[in-house]
Amino acid sequence: MVKVLVLNGPNLNLLGVREPGVYGNDTLEDIEVMVAGRAADLGARVSFVQSNHEGVLIDTLHAAAGSFDAVVFNPGAYTHYAYALRDAVAAAQVPVVEVHLSNIAGREEFRRSSVIAPACVGQISGFGPRSYILGLEAAVGHLSESR
Ligand code: DQA
Repeated sequence: MVKVLVLNGPNLNLLGVREPGVYGNDTLEDIEVMVAGRAADLGARVSFVQSNHEGVLIDTLHAAAGSFDAVVFNPGAYTHYAYALRDAVAAAQVPVVEVHLSNIAGREEFRRSSVIAPACVGQISGFGPRSYILGLEAAVGHLSESR
C-alpha cells in the first residue's frame, strides 16, 4: 500500500478561523478527514503532520524517505522564501507535491513565487481543500507511473 505524508506548515493549524474569506471555513482536521476518505478510495495510507517551525518541517522531510512513498506539502508562507526547506525537499528521496488552498499566482506579489516548487514534482494551487485531494491524486498517480 502506498504511504503518503500530508505535511502542513505555519498557521495552517488555524484554518477555519484564520482569514476565512481567503482560506475558507474548513478546519485542518476537516481537510484531513476528506483526504483520508479519498486515500481510502485510492488504496493509499495517509499520515498528517503540521508544524509552525521550519526546523521541524525539515526534520520531518529528512525522515520521510524511510517511512513514506510521497509527500503532499503545504509550506504556508515558507513557500515564498525558505531556502533551507527547499533544500530539504530537494534532498528528500521521495517525490513532493506542493499544494496551496489559495491561488498564490493571483495574490500579493510576494506570494506569487515559490522557492519550494522547483524541487517538487509539481504544484497545485487555488482549489481550497480540494487542492489537497488533487495533490494526493497527483502523488499516487506519479508513484504508479514511476514504478
Ligand atoms: C498558503 C499560501 C501562503 O502564501 C500563505 O502564507 C499560507 C497558506 C495557501 O495554502 O494558500 O499560509 O500556503
